[in-house]
Amino acid sequence: MCGIVGFIGQNDARDILLNGLEKLEYRGYDSAGIAVLNDQGLHLSKVKGRIAALRKHVDHSVQSTVGIGHTRWATHGVPSEENAHPHQSASGRFTLVHNGVIENYQELCREYLYDVNLKSKTDTEVIVQLMEKLAEKTQDTVEAFRQTMRLLQGSYAIALIDREDRDNIYAAKNKSPLLVGLGEGFNVVTSDAMATLKVTDQYLEIYDGEIVTVSRNFVEVQQLNGTLVDRKPFTAQIDWADTEKGTYPHFMLKEIDEQPLVMRKIIKEYQPENNGLKLEADIQNAIKDADRIYIIAAGTSYHAGLIGKGFLEKMANIPTEVHIASEFSYHMPLLSERPLFIFISQSGETADSRAVLVKIKEMGYPALTITNVPGSTLSREADFTLNLYAGPEIAVASTKAYTAQIAVLAILAVDTAKAKGMELDFAPMQELAIAANAMEVLTDQKNTMEELAKDYLSASRNAFFIGRGTDYHVCLEGALKLKEISYIQAEGFAGGELKHGTIALIEEDTPVIALATQEKVNYAIRGNVQEVVARGANDLIISMQGLERDTDAFVIPAVHEFLTPLVSVVPLQLLSYYAALHRGCDVDKPRNLAKSVTVE
Ligand code: F6R
Repeated sequence: MCGIVGFIGQNDARDILLNGLEKLEYRGYDSAGIAVLNDQGLHLSKVKGRIAALRKHVDHSVQSTVGIGHTRWATHGVPSEENAHPHQSASGRFTLVHNGVIENYQELCREYLYDVNLKSKTDTEVIVQLMEKLAEKTQDTVEAFRQTMRLLQGSYAIALIDREDRDNIYAAKNKSPLLVGLGEGFNVVTSDAMATLKVTDQYLEIYDGEIVTVSRNFVEVQQLNGTLVDRKPFTAQIDWADTEKGTYPHFMLKEIDEQPLVMRKIIKEYQPENNGLKLEADIQNAIKDADRIYIIAAGTSYHAGLIGKGFLEKMANIPTEVHIASEFSYHMPLLSERPLFIFISQSGETADSRAVLVKIKEMGYPALTITNVPGSTLSREADFTLNLYAGPEIAVASTKAYTAQIAVLAILAVDTAKAKGMELDFAPMQELAIAANAMEVLTDQKNTMEELAKDYLSASRNAFFIGRGTDYHVCLEGALKLKEISYIQAEGFAGGELKHGTIALIEEDTPVIALATQEKVNYAIRGNVQEVVARGANDLIISMQGLERDTDAFVIPAVHEFLTPLVSVVPLQLLSYYAALHRGCDVDKPRNLAKSVTVE
């Protein structure tokens, strides 16, 4: 959610900033801006819209070796040029970009900035105006920066430049991700290594409550109390090629296609010969001894959690609850005596999930994070992390991370069952390999899915997805995919529940997509389809080999009954993709959304 890039070096900053912002655009894309400094002063360019528009707007004749840039997902203030970052202090001396939310910005305004005429409606501008006030008082930039950070409540990753100093970028962090990338004669500041991988793979992690002075040849990290921090850099394990679309028209299609590969990667990484999950003894014991597991997640990851609950209960016999992160923080259920918390998050940065993690760690409970970004906040702050090995997921709609989450949860459940001395008639690696092959069969049938999407979804206002048991949980995900990228109002429903009210919405030709992959409810779900067909619905049944009937629109290859979600979700992802494409939607960057939701 929002992206930051800063550069200080010998070469022209502008291209590095614009290229970096392009890589971060999936995190927020309603407005963008850059500010660069040279001996003629500060040059600021901001636009409402995308980085492509910013690229056109920037004065390409301006050369500079230091600058900062931002791509925004609006929280305070509408998307507009004036609310776009960078923001400037009253005199124009300080210029700043910010990710996060300053919770006390109104109080700060009242107390310190009553005489300042704010130009924007953002919480961010308050930071830069405060900075100027405190710099006037202290006559010391670092001290003013430190004092400003002390006054802020909320989340922030900040990069700041000073018109009177072309040799430093100042950065700070609390609860929002921030890294400093290290180079020869240059350094960068970024909210995500992906933005600057082209120039360096060496990064210094910045922790909450730290401020950093970044120059061309050195980086100084200190805590807010002035204590210097000595930290070793790490090598970012992201392949540059993974961040490119290649020959695909959209990242989403590429990522759907990558799913069989991701399954095989997970199998390889978690093979027993490769030491399996490599869980440390204390977390292994916490899982084994847990009397209840609490899965915390949001959106698609929450949907994966619902499938994970089935694995943990059926395979490892542990009662498991799945909670929406944003609800759990405020409405915590009565906890069991020995709970274990599992956080599922593609990005590892979701603020709603992090708020729960902070709370339960204060309460002394163990936590395991399943994420695609080891080193992310949720990974660092939990006791243990399981990596999804899905590679960067750039399309805002999550696809390969969802199936990776399900696969890792299955392996975790099997491992837990084994640790508890239980016998299981389920060989996860073999079954995952079969599921990977089945996914491949499905990704090869894009033409069929495109035709179905055209027939059923090109003109519809709404759509329903129905299923029972695990199919119902996949339907929730199918509906989320469709609504977020095609803007069709879509709902996932338990097949038997529709008639308790929602069936009133079924009209002539309303698309109802039904999943039938579970033997024990095959008869029941087909009965539910008949109920809606009798009221005019246009049914599209996706069944599994062995359970199919002649009238089914699409049949998926048979896989183990635990793993059907890995396979049944693929046609739903493709249906959503083609529906969005035919409706002229921006598939990879749907309106109002951003990847990685770092505000609560
Ligand atoms: C939907 C989607 C979101 C995320 C949710 C949680 O396609 O991507 O629903 O799943 O915002 O994000 P993570 O998994 O990063 O915690």
